[in-house]
Amino acid sequence: MATHTIVTIVGSLRKESFSLKVANALAKLAPASLKLDVTTLHDISFFNQDLEANPPADWLAFREKLQKSNGVLFVTPEYNRSIPGVLKNAIDVGSRPYGKSSFLGKPTGIVSNSPGALGGVSAAKHLQNILPGISGPILGQPEIYLNGIGDAFNEKGELVKEAVQKVLQQYINAFAAFIEQQNR
Ligand SMILES: Cc1cc2nc3c(=O)[nH]c(=O)nc-3n(C[C@H](O)[C@H](O)[C@H](O)COP(=O)(O)O)c2cc1C
Repeated sequence: MATHTIVTIVGSLRKESFSLKVANALAKLAPASLKLDVTTLHDISFFNQDLEANPPADWLAFREKLQKSNGVLFVTPEYNRSIPGVLKNAIDVGSRPYGKSSFLGKPTGIVSNSPGALGGVSAAKHLQNILPGISGPILGQPEIYLNGIGDAFNEKGELVKEAVQKVLQQYINAFAAFIEQQNR
């Protein structure tokens, strides 16, 4: 079975980010058919359409990474009932030039999380609004909105909450099957 590379985009820049920890946990739980390339957004400069004629190297590198991948997985927190600005910026960068989105055709997954009760569901729903015009098919089932993520990891960043491990395993197995089917 071929190994499929999945650009796994973390929607938080925070050093101790739960989203980053969730992405790393998913990378560990992924079956052998998936390689999750956990990607943070520290190096992606602000999108500015004026620069499109001669795009900065960081935009080109991000776009190339997406183009070479077999799929994209977003792992994001919720900021003010939406996605964080850094994530929207990266999506804008990857979506251009017009008609040549680097997300185009890439099978896509969305994982939201929050220490709060609602699991970042609004952020996930906003991604579902943003992506269809510029991405590939989005995995609809199972949905995953991880609430109460604040006590899921120990001080080493290891996943210690069994219920979270179980849903992450279910999700990544379903996502692997989806990627397999879409890359056939
Ligand atoms: C600017 C800002 C807005 C936030 N808005 C929400 C929100 O709308 N819903 C929510 O569940 N948590 C919200 N939070 C709390 C985040 O879920 C929490 O800070 C989380 O740890 C951020 O994700 P990270 O751990 O991956 O950095 C907000 C946090 C910040 C800094």
